[in-house]
Amino acid sequence: MLEERRILITGGAGFIGSHLAEELVEHNNIVKLYDNFNDFYFNKEANIKSLKEKKNCEIIKGDILDLEALNSVLKDDIEIVFHIAAQPGVRVSVQAPFKTHSTNVTGTLNMLVAVQNSNVEKLINASSSSVYGPPKYLPIDENHPTDPVSPYGASKLAAEKYCKSFYRVYGINVCSLRFFTVYGPRQRPDMAIHIFTQKILRNEPPTIFGDGNQTRDFTFINDTVSGVIASAEAKNTAGEAFNLGKGERCSVNDLISLLIKTTGNAVKPIFTKEMKGDVSHTWADITKAKNILGYNPQISIEAGLKKFVDWYRSTPPNEIPKASP
Ligand code: NAD
Ligand code: UGA
Repeated sequence: MLEERRILITGGAGFIGSHLAEELVEHNNIVKLYDNFNDFYFNKEANIKSLKEKKNCEIIKGDILDLEALNSVLKDDIEIVFHIAAQPGVRVSVQAPFKTHSTNVTGTLNMLVAVQNSNVEKLINASSSSVYGPPKYLPIDENHPTDPVSPYGASKLAAEKYCKSFYRVYGINVCSLRFFTVYGPRQRPDMAIHIFTQKILRNEPPTIFGDGNQTRDFTFINDTVSGVIASAEAKNTAGEAFNLGKGERCSVNDLISLLIKTTGNAVKPIFTKEMKGDVSHTWADITKAKNILGYNPQISIEAGLKKFVDWYRSTPPNEIPKASP
């Protein structure tokens, strides 16, 4: 576990970034969160509620598109950067490709340039399973072709390529972590588990895009965070990419059945047409992360969904993230 290190987390007010920050703050690291608190969804303040009270956590409102601001934050003897900020979401990228591109590609390039101007020892880049595109075989290892379908996947792959280029050209110690559909308390309100839970608890029918036989390697947030922290401690990661999934998959139909069982509310889903940009299956081969990072995800989908539903039920409505209108 990292301890007493000087750390910057971009996107630290988001779903994954805020959980990562909580774990690092708990272990006496000196943590700066850097986030523009954009309105992709609301109530990011609730994500960082507990962090605001911590002496070893500073919250900075700033944009990764502002290179001068990044240079100035990194001047402050930051040792490790977790670059988590992005415009996430496959479906939103189909609607808003320029926003996705500028945040994810130009934003990451800015981060790399800022790191190059600094004394940062290691940069961890949040990437995505969507860099793979349609699976040629399952489970997907890191040598699988990268042929993204969505503009989002293309942007995350471009960001990874810039990271690798900066490693090759300037020796920047950077690695990319390919997260697989992460869920848990405070999950983004545009994602399936969040939407389905909200609908089922209101006794409303959830909408399934396509026939529901598509599968995802749903990964519980605590497992993702443990992999992210392990990647900062591990050696031999420079220029590399790692899958961080659970290593199992579940169909959207089975997900709905599990949520019905967990909540005790029986509803019938509505089926509609497939979403553009959606891939049929994701399923991570996590051998590389196990061997090099010591990554060992623990939480089953049943246990993780229970934690999500418990969180949802026990959270005051004004602290549940809301989708942007
Ligand atoms: P999130 O939207 O909750 O968090 C992203 C944060 O980045 C937000 O707080 C947002 O305000 C901030 N941000 C956006 N643009 C910014 C900018 N220009 N400057 C500064 N801050 C900015 O999303 P998340 O689900 O926590 O995803 C975090 C990262 O993980 C992203 O890089 C995403 O692409 C990647 N990822 C997420 C998943 C998932 O299942 N959640 C899966 C694969 C990859
Ligand atoms: C998720 C994140 O949103 C991306 O940011 C991330 O990069 C990606 O995981 C990843 O793993 O790389 P996605 O798998 O589309 O993308 O996540 P969900 O929103 O949880 O969707 C899972 C499945 O449920 C998809 O097939 C989607 O089409 C389906 N879905 C979603 C529905 O059928 N109905 C809904 O209302 C929402």
